[in-house]
Amino acid sequence: MSNITFTMLKPDAVKAGNIGAILAMINAAGFRIKAMKMTKLSMETAGQFYEVHKERPFYGELCEFMSSGHIVAAILEKENAVADFRTLIGATNPANAEEGTIRKLYATSVGENAVHGSDSDENAMIEGNFFFSGMEKF
Ligand code: CMP
Repeated sequence: MSNITFTMLKPDAVKAGNIGAILAMINAAGFRIKAMKMTKLSMETAGQFYEVHKERPFYGELCEFMSSGHIVAAILEKENAVADFRTLIGATNPANAEEGTIRKLYATSVGENAVHGSDSDENAMIEGNFFFSGMEKF
């Protein structure tokens, strides 16, 4: 088990002014921020990040949305990071998310769902390395 996961606060969360509230929940849940930046994806870089979904019908919509505004990318550290972070954020579709989860509180739809969380240790490494160089991880 790795102790690392990767997250993005998505354009809907950034536009709604929810960066601070979401980071406070992440800190309160015991995650340590190893790396963080605010940036903006292009259609091309969003497409690369979500390449695993390229055959899905929502791929175009996903890339449009993820390049529609600023995002906050971060690498988080905690014991059992991947699973614990997915518990903290709740189900992909906020309609199915548990009370008190980040998506239940801040997401509005399955597409505009406030946060991304890695689904495996392997993808956490790949996704973190997509955004951060060795000099940017602490
Ligand atoms: P995320 O955890 O970032 O990983 C892939 C994303 O695809 C997911 O969150 C959702 O935001 C998005 N997604 C999944 N299903 C749909 C859908 N049916 N329509 C639009 N976006 C979707």
